[in-house]
Amino acid sequence: MPESYTLVDATLKVIQDRRSIREFTSDDITENELNLILESARQAPSGENAQPWRFIVVKDEITRKKLGAIAGGGSGRRFTAEFVTQKMQERFANLEDEAKKKAAFEKLTSGQVSAFMADAPVNLVVIGKKDVWDLPFDTSAAIENILLMVTALNLGACWVIAPCIDIRDEERIKDLLSIPENMKAISIISIGHPTRVHRPRPRLPLKDIVFTEKWGDNYYKEEA
Ligand SMILES: Cc1cc2nc3c(=O)[nH]c(=O)nc-3n(C[C@H](O)[C@H](O)[C@H](O)COP(=O)(O)O)c2cc1C
Repeated sequence: MPESYTLVDATLKVIQDRRSIREFTSDDITENELNLILESARQAPSGENAQPWRFIVVKDEITRKKLGAIAGGGSGRRFTAEFVTQKMQERFANLEDEAKKKAAFEKLTSGQVSAFMADAPVNLVVIGKKDVWDLPFDTSAAIENILLMVTALNLGACWVIAPCIDIRDEERIKDLLSIPENMKAISIISIGHPTRVHRPRPRLPLKDIVFTEKWGDNYYKEEA
């Protein structure tokens, strides 16, 4: 590492290197790695320091498979509805390669999207106290900390919300994991070793998303 490499460089690198990983090798993650990930979650900010998050570490293969089946089934239903209502066709309107488009539609509606969590050695189920106002924001802060620590550890993770926003699937998850009524299943973070290096998903340029003093005047005139 060059001497001039600073904490700022390291922080930016972790932020820029993070990406959603959905394919994992069969290698386990260590207790030390898991402790660092959970400690990062614990240090997140929360409204009024409410810390409404709770976490269930799921390593058991049978439970992982059940989670994967719930998540996969839900995504299959949702994407099928998107296909039937033509929304999927609109979303992929710019993709000209018909074969690629067909493959994408088949994959999305197959019920296999999100099922990958069955293959992640660890699934962190993020749960929150329903009576805390800022719950979605608080847990999102904790989850981003998890994702960044995962990246710093050269591991990979994906934030999966799909089975937690479908009311029936959330109930299935709560039953499976004995989550009490006053708690909400927020998201599942699948963590493991990536099978390969992934290209970054594109991001909007700063010049398109930042204004100066009021809405509409671009802060950046050129691409930053
Ligand atoms: C709130 C939230 C919910 C997400 N839910 C899912 C999900 O249910 N399934 C999934 O495969 N990816 C999910 N993702 C991952 C996004 O698809 C991903 O972050 C996005 O495509 C950008 O790619 P990147 O994370 O590799 O930069 C979610 C991400 C966020 C922030």
